[in-house]
Amino acid sequence: MNNIYHYPNKQRKLDASLPAPTDSADTRAIVDSVQMQRFVVEYDYPVVFTRHAFDPVNLHLLDVVRRREPGKRHRVAVFIDGGVAQALPHLAGQIQAYFSAHNEFLDLVGDIVVLKGGEECKNDPDFITNLLQILSDKAIDRHSFAIAIGGGAIMDAVGYAAAIFHRSVRHIRFPTTVLGQDDSGVGVKNAVNWLGLKNLVGTFAPPWAVINDGVFIDSLPAREKRCGMSEAVKVALIRDREFFLWLESNALALARFETVPLSYLIKRSAQIHMNQIAHGGDPFESGSARPLDYGHWVAHKLERMTNQHVLSHGEAVAIGIALDAHYSVLAGLLPAGEDMRVHQLLVTLGFKLWNDQLESRHESGRLAVLQGLREFREHLGGELTITLLSAIGKGIEVHEINDQWVTESIAWLKHLK
Ligand SMILES: NC(=O)c1ccc[n+]([C@@H]2O[C@H](COP(=O)([O-])OP(=O)(O)OC[C@H]3O[C@@H](n4cnc5c(N)ncnc54)[C@H](O)[C@@H]3O)[C@@H](O)[C@H]2O)c1
Ligand SMILES: [Zn+2]
Repeated sequence: MNNIYHYPNKQRKLDASLPAPTDSADTRAIVDSVQMQRFVVEYDYPVVFTRHAFDPVNLHLLDVVRRREPGKRHRVAVFIDGGVAQALPHLAGQIQAYFSAHNEFLDLVGDIVVLKGGEECKNDPDFITNLLQILSDKAIDRHSFAIAIGGGAIMDAVGYAAAIFHRSVRHIRFPTTVLGQDDSGVGVKNAVNWLGLKNLVGTFAPPWAVINDGVFIDSLPAREKRCGMSEAVKVALIRDREFFLWLESNALALARFETVPLSYLIKRSAQIHMNQIAHGGDPFESGSARPLDYGHWVAHKLERMTNQHVLSHGEAVAIGIALDAHYSVLAGLLPAGEDMRVHQLLVTLGFKLWNDQLESRHESGRLAVLQGLREFREHLGGELTITLLSAIGKGIEVHEINDQWVTESIAWLKHLK
């Protein structure tokens, strides 16, 4: 038999067998029994919405750090996304000034670390090792803090390093993109890409706190601002009709990135994501359903088929949202016409809802995006579960996708482009 793989490549000695039974009448009960272990762990973490978090008069950071041990001086390591550091050259100085002003309770450990941001940090196999080395050099322990300031990619990478270092050190997130603030930042996951696969390695690790500072959004390039809006449209569609109506009424102001409506979009979207995690019944995604991934099965595949510079996550999600809205109509789930409203909203927000890769086919003639379904299920495990729409504001789960309706939905997008 050659189908046993040994790693390392040598035969391991079998464990010694169980102790030999004695003559006692209770022997069976000793060697054959089930003890049910059970405990409940409660998680809570503040999600702050503010502006100018590093102005010394803004006490949110100080408060969240001190929330369990108010009398102590806390050791804090700070990591900044290089893109953020470049856009805000005074940020590091402001952070140092903040720590000096609150020196009684906050101890900034060593230098502020500037990291390369974007997806590259999740792709670099040495990145996590370097982060662990820095955490070790700074002697961060389970009562110290690792703060990450950056986009979703830096949140994921530093969050992962913080989660595995000493089996988890306290981690505070400062998401700096719309997507980071309205979606990923409030979540409980982190991951890096490994073996060429997206988010292959990661953990479920709720943060110590999340601080959403609107000032970071001001410095974002327009494209990045727009990208995160598709996640807000997504949660409105599956959970909150009122929010969708609000998005429709404010679409033009949002397309101009006006501060007040954009701040509301971020806050409302974050709240709906938080609600889903806390009350959706499956915060660590052990079941087959992923309601927050509406529109994402197409998006994930499109992202892989195109270069990230051509189509970012948010742009791919916008296409996936529109496609699944029309599919929901074809499946008889969503009233006809509602798909057009979804399309119109996304277009008004500035999204381009077409990419030629939608039509690319395998040699077999099958649409390449349909391969995404298989990959989507493989990532989740369990039964294929796709969220569609039964109304605007109401998601519905299905377990099968009809190739013909996907083809027709792609043709619909092409016709409208
Ligand atoms: N853990 C989760 O639950 C979850 C959920 C959704 C997405 N994600 C992950 O998030 C990542 C995408 O995150 P993203 O969309 O925030 O992009 P990103 O982190 O890749 O950042 C995009 C670019 O913007 C720069 N940047 C970030 N903030 C800036 C600012 N305020 N000013 C100027 N430049 C800034 C970054 O340096 C980077 O070059 C993906 O890796 C995705 O897998 C994770
Ligand atoms: Zn997404």
